Amino acid sequence: MIKIIQGDITTLAVDAIVNAANQVMLGGGGVDGAIHYAAGDELYEACLKVPEVRPGVRCPTGEARITPGFKLPAKFVIHTVGPVYRDGQHGEPEKLAACYRNSLTLAAENGCQSIAFPCISTGIYGYPKEEAAQIAVREVHAFLSNSEPQIGRAVAPRPPQEDGLASSRPPEMEVIFCCFSERDANVYRSLIA
Ligand code: APR
Repeated sequence: MIKIIQGDITTLAVDAIVNAANQVMLGGGGVDGAIHYAAGDELYEACLKVPEVRPGVRCPTGEARITPGFKLPAKFVIHTVGPVYRDGQHGEPEKLAACYRNSLTLAAENGCQSIAFPCISTGIYGYPKEEAAQIAVREVHAFLSNSEPQIGRAVAPRPPQEDGLASSRPPEMEVIFCCFSERDANVYRSLIA
């Protein structure tokens, strides 16, 4: 199920919120700054413990890493690094799509049934909002329509129910597009009618 809301992602009581982070993963401005502020210093400490894959890079562009949410109402923060937009001809669409795919996969692997995304890359990183929203919606749709095998593989089977019948299918993940502005929310509404 997909929902669009306008608001502050740090207030959402979902299983995971996604952070539009940078490769160092130690905080920044925009939604990254808001998430670190609301989660408290423990989030910074947890990010420090994420191993660097090369000097100064804990999460390469397009990949995702997970930490607890600490003081946030969300259980987890999934940190992903969107591409810096140049002209759309330097792999930006593929990298942005990978952010959504990898965040959703990591959420499923950690048993999340609800996840909220900000509009990754569309602030400081300059990605045009309409193009970014199209990629986000396309990737989430694709993930949800394939989610039975992906979630089935990733999450341990639930115990048999009281009537003794094992549940064959985990519930579908709820995916929220959390837009900071009404204008951004309208971009998503126009794509998900
Ligand atoms: N809740 C939801 N969305 C928010 C919030 C919030 N509290 N604060 C900002 N946003 C929105 C912005 O309006 C924008 O649409 O998040 C979107 C992404 O903007 P940025 O935070 O600037 O992220 P991005 O463009 O991916 O740039 C990442 O910014 O702060 C740094 O460390 C971060 O270097 C990284 C870069």
